[in-house]
Amino acid sequence: MSTRKKQSIYNSEIRENNQSADNVKEVVDSKNNRSNAKTKTKKQKDAELGGTDKKTHVEENEDYKIVLPDMKSIEKSVLGSIVGQDEQVRQVITAIYRAKELKSIKANVLIIGNSGTGKTETIKQVAKRLRIPYTEEDATKYTQEGYWGADVVDMLYHLLDKTNGNIKEAENGIIIIDEIDKKAGNDVRDVSGVTVLNSLLKIIEGSIVELDDLADPFGEEIIQFNTKNLIIIFLGAFKGLEKIRDKRLNRNMVGFAYNEEHKKTNAQKTRFLKQDLVKYGMPEEFVGRIDTIIEMNKLTKEDLATILAKSNLSIFKRYRAELKKKGVKLVHSRKLYDIIAEKSLTLDTGARELSNTVNYIFENIIYEVLANPGKYTRCVLSPQIVDDNTKFELS
Ligand SMILES: Nc1ncnc2c1ncn2[C@@H]1O[C@H](COP(=O)(O)OP(=O)(O)OP(=O)(O)O)[C@@H](O)[C@H]1O
Ligand SMILES: [Mg+2]
Repeated sequence: MSTRKKQSIYNSEIRENNQSADNVKEVVDSKNNRSNAKTKTKKQKDAELGGTDKKTHVEENEDYKIVLPDMKSIEKSVLGSIVGQDEQVRQVITAIYRAKELKSIKANVLIIGNSGTGKTETIKQVAKRLRIPYTEEDATKYTQEGYWGADVVDMLYHLLDKTNGNIKEAENGIIIIDEIDKKAGNDVRDVSGVTVLNSLLKIIEGSIVELDDLADPFGEEIIQFNTKNLIIIFLGAFKGLEKIRDKRLNRNMVGFAYNEEHKKTNAQKTRFLKQDLVKYGMPEEFVGRIDTIIEMNKLTKEDLATILAKSNLSIFKRYRAELKKKGVKLVHSRKLYDIIAEKSLTLDTGARELSNTVNYIFENIIYEVLANPGKYTRCVLSPQIVDDNTKFELS
């Protein structure tokens, strides 16, 4: 894809992100300062929205300083979307604020968790609110022979694309690298994974990487990209890592459950440790650079039901709002959330499966409502609708 094309896609994304960030900001602002809300000048509003870098960022000794919103209000707002991961959300926010405000460390975070538990979504929700540009990378794509070094540098180009070429902003962005566990390997014959991890070291450690300035028609200009303030967040499911931890804890007896009291007194030990990751096959040099390891919770049936009923990301809520827009009130028992949650839980993809189940439920309803404008005002869902999407009544 050409840079220009990528940029125009990015621009529309940014507009979307800005709108949602705008909403959040407005909520926070109206709470903090109700009387002021109406009297804001355009200039003030632009500054809040990060219209240009001059307004949002104060240059300090050539260092880039981002003004972060109140941490607790960000946490609260993210928890309105992310369910069942309160401690994890807090850990992510703390890692980012620590890196941005204290700058004493290079923030390299590893998030371990099953599919659909909110690894990617949590970072997106935080980054969006803090207006930090981010790029999502899939570690498994960085394998082609001969491309190792170059590919890792591509991540920096992607980030630069996201900021429309603003180098200072890109240097302070977030790179999310998914499926990092697929690069582990104890097998010395499979050097590709380890090679990718080692070539990642230069952006993990913080160094100056020289990039060709793609805007220069003569291809002579060089951009120096300093990776010292980049936040790198690795994601992975790390299937089998629990077994390694269990072994370390001598928890390998079948059915032997650690009670809550034991967990509390051994909270540190029961976390994943770097040594577990090394045993798993991650190179030591790599693991050594990780300063925060976060383990996502497995989502329970109750969590999934709460996502449906309450989360701002709930696809069920979105359908309810769409029907309301067409003048149709949605009626169902609270139990329906549990039934959908239970059905979705049978597949091992966490909250990911919810959207499939919910889309199925509303397929015929949305068709009927759109095909008969103004005809209906009420839609009653039967609990059986999760298995048979004709089980509803429109009147
Ligand atoms: N804890 C959660 N709270 C609310 N919604 C969630 C949560 N986890 C996941 N979701 C929903 O599921 C979708 C997929 O989640 P996400 O992309 O974060 O999964 P993931 O943990 O990164 O898994 P994968 O390894 O499959 O990428 C999200 O877009 C969101 O709608
Ligand atoms: Mg993901």
